[in-house]
Amino acid sequence: MNRKVTVVGGAGNVGATVARGIAEKQLADVVIVDIAEKKAAGVALDMFEACPVYGSDARVLGTGDYAESAGSDLVVITSGMPRKPGMSRDDLLNVNYKIMQQVTEQVVKHSPDCILVPVSNPLDAMAQAVLRLSKFPRERVIGMAGVLDSARMRTFIAKELDVSVENVHAFVLGGHGDTMVPLPRYSTVAGIPITDLMDKVTIERIVARTARGGLEITELVGTSAWYAPGASVVEMIEAILLDKKKIMPCSVFLQGEYGVRDLFVGVPVKLGARGVEQIVQITLTPEEQAAFNKSAAAVKELVDVIKV
Ligand code: NAI
Ligand code: 2OP
Repeated sequence: MNRKVTVVGGAGNVGATVARGIAEKQLADVVIVDIAEKKAAGVALDMFEACPVYGSDARVLGTGDYAESAGSDLVVITSGMPRKPGMSRDDLLNVNYKIMQQVTEQVVKHSPDCILVPVSNPLDAMAQAVLRLSKFPRERVIGMAGVLDSARMRTFIAKELDVSVENVHAFVLGGHGDTMVPLPRYSTVAGIPITDLMDKVTIERIVARTARGGLEITELVGTSAWYAPGASVVEMIEAILLDKKKIMPCSVFLQGEYGVRDLFVGVPVKLGARGVEQIVQITLTPEEQAAFNKSAAAVKELVDVIKV
């Protein structure tokens, strides 16, 4: 195929789900890079052997050698420690920052023109680390979190109202943490705001469940989620590689938008071939803006610890 996507950390749960999704949808050839080299080779071979069944001509390769990833159009970074029960995403800060340092250096060396999609947690701080380390323009570093958080909220809304998930849109902004900001006013079913369809208590229950969506899975499984995170990354990759100009919530480097400067926070953006093609500004109520500011402040605290 004429497109190439590398997934660093692709032998792990989220990365393998991303790699598989790309191969199944025939979006690009896939290179899995992982320090667990042998596992990367095996996982990739297994996926490659599934491609005839999918009817996909994508090639999938697994390796520990970044040279194989050279010239990638897009690089997803899922390398890093996941959460265990009792851990917050923020507990991963220092260990995953070290991994971002190793990985970003290699990625930039071999794929200087790629678009980077960091996924490792704590997401917004890791995305900011990757931006600073790569020295890429902000349009080419796009953190994945809002698509996942919104997908969780869509799931809960559709279930509550017993409607198709296809009818449901949801917007979750802010940092990917306990302070994330689900926006009921901008969450709709067939275009109707959920504030017209549900009572306040039900909405508050859905908002609270969305905010602790990652924790709910971690408590059940013993490690963090991968199916919904992987699917969310693939949706972003599809928007970029197919130049769809799709608006989705992503963590991007704000420079004054939403009143925030020099910080990665989740906001609606237009994704296309150039990466972030527009940051979409929506009007927030004073309460929503206050919640957004609180969430941004929580990201800033982490970023200050690692000084990026
Ligand atoms: P995992 O442990 O299954 O996979 C991580 C992979 O990274 C492993 O295969 C490991 O060998 C590899 N790795 C570690 N250090 C590396 C290095 N220096 N170079 C290359 N590869 C390296 O973990 P999982 O569940 O896939 O999660 C990965 C990350 O994604 C975690 O930090 C997790 O918290 C985060 N995450 C973020 C989400 C989001 O919404 N942004 C959602 C779900 C997970
Ligand atoms: C999630 O939200 C842990 O960030 C990960 O599932």
